[in-house]
Amino acid sequence: MHTRMARLRRPFLLGAILIASFGIVSAQQRGGQGAGAEQRPRPWMDTALSADERAGLVLAELTLDEKIGLLHGMGRGGGSAQDPAFQAVAARSNGGAGFVPGVARLGLPDLQMADSAVGVARGASRGRYSTALPSTVAAAATWDVKLAYEYGALIGRELRDQGYNVSLGGGVNLLREPRNGRNFEYQGEDPVLAGTMIGHRIRGLQDQHIVGDIKHFALNDQETGRQIASVTLDTRVMRETDLLAFELGIRIGKPNMVMCSYNRIGGDWACEHDYLLSGLLKKSWDFKGWVVSDWGATHSTTKAALAGLDQEMPGDTFFGAALKKAVESGEVPMARLDDMVRRILRAEFASGIIDNPPVTRVPDVLVGFAVAQRVAESGTVLLKNDRGVLPLGAPTIRSIAVIGSHADVGVPSGGGSAQVDAAGGSAVKPPAATGGGQRQGGMGRGGTWHPSAPLAAIKARAPRAKVAFDDGTDSAQAAALAKASDVAIVVAAQVTSEGRDMTNLSLPDNQDQLIAAVAAANPRTIVVLETGGPVTMPWIDKVPAVFEAWYPGIRGAEAIAAVLFGDVNPTGKLPMTFPKSEADLPHAVLPGSDVTPQPVPAPAGAPAGAQRRTQLPPFDIIYTEGLKVGYKWFDAENKAPLFPFGHGLSYTTFAYSGLKATATAVTFTVKNNGTRAGAEVAQVYAGLPDGTGEPPRRLVAWEKVTLAPGESKTVTLTLDPFLLSIFDSAADRWQLVPGDYKIFVGTSSRNTPLTATVRLRD
Ligand code: BGC
Repeated sequence: MHTRMARLRRPFLLGAILIASFGIVSAQQRGGQGAGAEQRPRPWMDTALSADERAGLVLAELTLDEKIGLLHGMGRGGGSAQDPAFQAVAARSNGGAGFVPGVARLGLPDLQMADSAVGVARGASRGRYSTALPSTVAAAATWDVKLAYEYGALIGRELRDQGYNVSLGGGVNLLREPRNGRNFEYQGEDPVLAGTMIGHRIRGLQDQHIVGDIKHFALNDQETGRQIASVTLDTRVMRETDLLAFELGIRIGKPNMVMCSYNRIGGDWACEHDYLLSGLLKKSWDFKGWVVSDWGATHSTTKAALAGLDQEMPGDTFFGAALKKAVESGEVPMARLDDMVRRILRAEFASGIIDNPPVTRVPDVLVGFAVAQRVAESGTVLLKNDRGVLPLGAPTIRSIAVIGSHADVGVPSGGGSAQVDAAGGSAVKPPAATGGGQRQGGMGRGGTWHPSAPLAAIKARAPRAKVAFDDGTDSAQAAALAKASDVAIVVAAQVTSEGRDMTNLSLPDNQDQLIAAVAAANPRTIVVLETGGPVTMPWIDKVPAVFEAWYPGIRGAEAIAAVLFGDVNPTGKLPMTFPKSEADLPHAVLPGSDVTPQPVPAPAGAPAGAQRRTQLPPFDIIYTEGLKVGYKWFDAENKAPLFPFGHGLSYTTFAYSGLKATATAVTFTVKNNGTRAGAEVAQVYAGLPDGTGEPPRRLVAWEKVTLAPGESKTVTLTLDPFLLSIFDSAADRWQLVPGDYKIFVGTSSRNTPLTATVRLRD
């Protein structure tokens, strides 16, 4: 009897063990194959195994065609519209920027990739909503790593809500070029701040079981000529500037994917750059994830595959049939093909997209609002506040003029692949947005406007005041309203976008003239900037108060009003320098803007006289400033910026004292000596020993300290030897140079009341 029971029980027990440890999953459950599909053990579903072990087990099961299928997307030339098999697979795409079919028989999910720099992009075509967060540069202006984490986590959750499992959102190209149209989706000019902020954002995102990326690797620091230009920089400079932001971002965030950029570096395309991809990223930095090309940035099969590119997007021009042929002929070794596939599989296990696939649901709109508003409030930078004009005292103000930039309906956003669709459609309809105003700086006020209206938010805070709006198109009319009002608030916007740079840093659409006219009419004029990055301010001496709200997202208006009326005490600090004029920049004109476009040769068979397109010929971008990016240039060249890196005022004031510095840590005290609670981003800069050839100072540490009125806190910050090092190209390693290091502590890169010198010995 016992024996019989035992025999009966055995298959059941064996089955239970298999399910528990090998995760037998029917293909139907995983959504891939039809009913009746064979159930086979899937030992790679054992979560006790490492991501590497699990990837290895799946790899051993894959056919050559299945492997190739994981290495390219299905877009643009990925198959034939007439081919029903292709159509059936392509129909599974979630509508994002990229789609790579999985292998259902083994339980590998489709990779559904969405742009998600400032929220999940392009939901409109499918009627989907996602939170429009403030631009990433606004998040950088918070200098708050916890908020960076929350920013990433929110995007991660909303990607899952929509059924995506891969984010294309981790932009960290350094702000070398303030006219770059994509600066709004990056993290500013300092590699330590940028790399740290992006790293924490990626952590937040990947903690939601999403494959996170970091992009665009590397030196895609402007849009002009991005698909044609070659950037020249020596190794030391690259490592200490642009690549340092990536190195820190990867170290902190451990993204599962790196997107290589469009441009060339030293003549080689970034997506087939052996030093960058194989040597640096995979070998020196030990990056275990996969390298995906930017969309259309693959230029070869064998060269790219051997240099370290793992996946072509969005189509299969080089990594489809051509890659299969190259593998069959031995040009690309099977071992390298397996490495490409293993990296993707490993990332799928490491990120959790296989164990915790996304479950679609309505995003939590209210949580999204709260995060968006917190980032907007914390990232707002009070640039100037003379005579305590701000905050406005709501009970005493009888009349307020709100002027310009569609402040009656919404706030602007950055364009291109980062664009999050506006809830209910753009608050400014295209003809109204693009019509009229003369365009300066190459960028008008077109684009998408989120329905968060500063006018309404201001009215709500000042219910007893008469609040009137003027659209700002007629300066004289706006000035007349300002003159008749207690206070004038001019909202000045600059819409920027991927694919286009500004030719200069002026506000577009005659807004400089508008501000000057309003300021002449009312000495209590406040300027609220909604820009992608720095702008010049020829009127700065005429207005008492200015703050930078960036692209403030879906709760932008509420954040702006909260800062205006003092419900929020500003704590943001500039993540980039604001220059006085373009002439003060390392390049007075945008590199490439003086290159003449050439006619594109007519395609064979084109009718005579057919309209010819033009495009830029290849050109070099030589960043002659080298290590002197942003504030380092202004410091080294002794130029006074309009507002320095790290600058940002508060409605209270802070005093610094008691600096004690050693080679490994600095301690100092910050006191709130005003009457309001506030938070100060205390910044530590280091000047390296003479003879290192470094700019005068670099950011090495900071802390955001919250203080009640009269409260003091003693802050101790570690000095990370890595951040004090220089890169020795000959030895191919970071080097901590012995000698005297100057330590500067204070409220911005230019206002550092505490100084000390520490000696580092051999
Ligand atoms: C952009 C990437 C983006 C991709 C997919 C490219 O043009 O440079 O940042 O992720 O398109 O939309």
